[in-house]
Amino acid sequence: MTVPDAEAVADAEPVADAEPVPDAEALPDVGAMADAEPVPDAEAMADAGPVPDAGAMADVEAAADVVPVADVVAVSGAVAMSGGSLPGCGVGGGPPPRGVPAVVAAAREAAPDPAVWFLLYPHPRREVTEALVRRAEEAGCSALVVTADSPRFGRRTRDLRNGFDDLPPGCAAENMRDLPGAPPGALTDIPMHPAASWRDFAETVGMTSLPVWIKGVLHPADARLAVEHGAAGVIVSNHGGRQCDTAAASLDCLPAVVDAVAGAVPVLLDGGVRRGGDVAVALALGAAAVGVGRPVLWGLAAKGAAGVREVLRTLLDEYDHTLALCGGRRNADLSADMVVRGDAAW
Ligand SMILES: Cc1cc2nc3c(=O)[nH]c(=O)nc-3n(C[C@H](O)[C@H](O)[C@H](O)COP(=O)(O)O)c2cc1C
Repeated sequence: MTVPDAEAVADAEPVADAEPVPDAEALPDVGAMADAEPVPDAEAMADAGPVPDAGAMADVEAAADVVPVADVVAVSGAVAMSGGSLPGCGVGGGPPPRGVPAVVAAAREAAPDPAVWFLLYPHPRREVTEALVRRAEEAGCSALVVTADSPRFGRRTRDLRNGFDDLPPGCAAENMRDLPGAPPGALTDIPMHPAASWRDFAETVGMTSLPVWIKGVLHPADARLAVEHGAAGVIVSNHGGRQCDTAAASLDCLPAVVDAVAGAVPVLLDGGVRRGGDVAVALALGAAAVGVGRPVLWGLAAKGAAGVREVLRTLLDEYDHTLALCGGRRNADLSADMVVRGDAAW
C-alpha cells in the first residue's frame, strides 16, 4: 500500500515527542462542544446526523468511547485499520475490527443513531471511489467528507527521518480491501489523485444521497466553488499542517470562507484546536463546529479510550468556561467582535 496509510500511525505514537503543529497557535478544524445550543447553521447540517456542533477525528479503536462526548466521529480509509499480531493494531480477544462497518457498529453501541462521517480520498479510478461510497453508505455513515487538499502526499520530515512510509506489517487499511480491480481479499493502494477536479467532486455528490462535505478548503473562491458543486458543508482545514508546511493557518482563512459561503452551507474548521478557548475563537469567527485530530490520538496513546474521553471532556469543559467568561450561555452568544486580531484592538 502507499503512503496515505502511513498517516494512520505516523503521529499516534510519540506523545512525549508531540510538537506543536505549524499553525497550532492559530486554531483550526474539528472540535468538540457538547451542550452548546444549536448553532445558526444547525438546520443545514441536520441531515448529517445529530448535533453538528462538534466533531472528533478518532481512530477505529477509540470510536465507541468517543461518541458519548463527541457529536461526530470521522473515520477514513487511512485510519480504519485492523491488525493481527502487532501490539496496538489488534483488539484483544474477538475478531479484529474490519473497516468502516466496525466503526459504525462500535459507535452504535454508544448511541443509537451516531453521526459517523467517512473521509474519502478521491481515487483516480472512479469505480474505486464509487465502491468506497457504497461501502460507507452500507455501513451506515451519515455523511461523506471528500478531502480536497491532497493532490499528493505531504512531505513530513519526521516520517522521512524515521523511514516511515508504510504501515507496519500486520496493519492494513481495511476499507481498501476487496475493491474493484484487485484480487479477492487484496488491498488497493490509496494513491493521491493529482488531477482531481471540481467535476470529480460533483460526480461524487451525484453518486449518493448522503450529504457530501469538502475538507481542505482555505481560499474563499474555492469555498464558493464547493457550494456551486453541491457541497453540503465546507471544512476549513490545512490538514493540520501535514500537507504543505507553508499553508496558511486554518483560523486565518476562516472569516473569508464564512463570508464567501454566506450561510449557504455550514462551515467547520480544524487544525491546531488544542484548548476550549480555541474552539470559542473559531465559533466566534463563524465556524459551526471544530474538529480535533491529534489530541484525540495523544489521549489514545497515553491512556487508551479513557484518554480520548478525557481529551474531549477537557475541551468541552474549557469551552464552557471560556463561553462563561465571555458572558455567553450559548454558541450564538459568541461574535467576531470578541476576537482581537493581531494589530487591531477594536
Ligand atoms: C494520524 C492522522 C491521520 C489522518 N488521516 C487523514 C485522512 O485520511 N484524511 C484526511 O482528510 N485527513 C486526515 N488527517 C488530518 C485530520 O483530518 C485533520 O485535518 C487534522 O488532524 C487536524 O489538525 P490537528 O491534528 O491539529 O487537530 C489525519 C491526521 C492525522 C493526525
